Amino acid sequence: MVARVSTVAFQGIEGVPVDVQVMVAPGKVGMQIVGLPDKAVAESRERVQAALHASGLSLPAKKVTVNLAPADLPKEGSHFDLPIALGLMAALGAIPGDALDGYVVIGELNLDGTIAAVSGALPAAIGANGLGKGLICPSDSSAEAAWAGSEIDILAPRSLIALANHFRGTQVLSRPEPAVRASPANMPDLADIKGQESAKRALEVAAAGNHNLLMVGPPGSGKSMLAARLPSILPPLSPPELLEVSMIHSIAGQLAGGKLSDRRPFRTPHHSATMAAMIGGGLRAKPGEASLAHNGVLFLDEFPEFTPQVLDALRQPLETAECIIARANHRVTYPAAIQLVAAMNPCRCGMAGEPGHSCARGPRCVSDYQGRISGPLMDRIDIRIDVPSVTAADLIRPAPAEPSAAVARRVARARDIQMDRFIAFGMPHILSNARCSTAMIEKMAEPDAGGLQLLRDAAEKMKFSARGYHRVLKVARTLADLDEKMTVGRIHLAEAISYRIAGERLTAAA
Ligand SMILES: Nc1ncnc2c1ncn2[C@@H]1O[C@H](COP(=O)(O)OP(=O)(O)O)[C@@H](O)[C@H]1O
Ligand SMILES: [Mg+2]
Repeated sequence: MVARVSTVAFQGIEGVPVDVQVMVAPGKVGMQIVGLPDKAVAESRERVQAALHASGLSLPAKKVTVNLAPADLPKEGSHFDLPIALGLMAALGAIPGDALDGYVVIGELNLDGTIAAVSGALPAAIGANGLGKGLICPSDSSAEAAWAGSEIDILAPRSLIALANHFRGTQVLSRPEPAVRASPANMPDLADIKGQESAKRALEVAAAGNHNLLMVGPPGSGKSMLAARLPSILPPLSPPELLEVSMIHSIAGQLAGGKLSDRRPFRTPHHSATMAAMIGGGLRAKPGEASLAHNGVLFLDEFPEFTPQVLDALRQPLETAECIIARANHRVTYPAAIQLVAAMNPCRCGMAGEPGHSCARGPRCVSDYQGRISGPLMDRIDIRIDVPSVTAADLIRPAPAEPSAAVARRVARARDIQMDRFIAFGMPHILSNARCSTAMIEKMAEPDAGGLQLLRDAAEKMKFSARGYHRVLKVARTLADLDEKMTVGRIHLAEAISYRIAGERLTAAA
């Protein structure tokens, strides 16, 4: 007899249905798993046998064949243990054959028969719900699975015995509750930053329009400090955004305690990050930092210290909002709509451009260092600013600074204006100016006569690329939105162009 159990294989953030077929028949004693399993799946055999034994169920002296269908779909991960064990239990009559019919099953087994947490419980639950089925998952993964919907039937046992007892009716498993992660109470606040008014303004504009930002300045001028305060002024995630972000974090096994939060991701990979760590991939395909920052911020401190190949690999997610990882026999895609925020010193010694300082290595100190950032990557950064050292006057007797909450209100207002406009244009899925298509931004950010003249002159003089031209328009649109103005005026374009020119100077120096 063949017992069948439904489970999933993860491709990107989607759970693709997989059918686990278990047959116990006379023949050479042993257990074999077929159907393109990777190493972790092949090792299931040992864990399943030990866990069943520990639960008081010994395998008969027969041949056990486990097939994971469709056979040509690669299977990665350890979450196939539980469906295989349950299939075997059904084949041996230890649980009723039809008990598993309405469920998708995922879970890893410990040798003592307890069930260990796995990644991907949330996408698995959403997939199961789509098929009209319930989910059997480890108790420790159940809090995130519960987010898939209140109507979905979830069984979250701690051990094989607890599940068998549930099916026998001697012990009832209760439904898990979705958990919310409380926002950290003491987030760093903009009010801590003395002076640096123009840098704070740029941070606000970047937050309001979801624009990429580069800060250049000497060590200790407060670049890292400014970036760390960006989360405190960003608007919370909308429910659909929240779900997408959580699915990625679930696949990566990074939802601590299965708790979801509506705070935007803020990822700060170290500059030693490898390609696999940044874009995704590795031995078992996992989302990288760029995908973990989906719908949030990817902050790269000490920008030129990153490997040039890793930086250039970011060009694709910056353009298409997804990371594509090529594997031996298939491709995996993870969403990666990121806001790139970067900080760097102007040169290796860090002091180029500071009054009274001259680099020991001369102008090459600047050009070598900044040349590590490729032109095409620089072209994708909308707002580039110089962050000079804080003046002594600002440090000693600072004017009272505005708290993050006040800035966050203006940012939220500007985002609302953008969303209303995108809805009016029939594109409700676009949420910020930075994500708008070039054709649309030309319509939405038509400058007045004065602005047009300024833009024409600047584009000619500074030799903007086509991408640069559109990015200036997008930033100008955001500036007008912050101003609550319908039309993009000369003043907005002037500010947007100034953010671009800081970078043109950088590229010219390089
Ligand atoms: N504008 C500022 N207001 C208050 N403190 C500052 C400011 N700029 C720098 N600091 C102080 O200097 C330290 C270093 O700042 P940091 O952000 O790490 O500099 P950077 O990243 O530019 O090298 C901060 O921890 C803070 O104590
Ligand atoms: Mg720093």
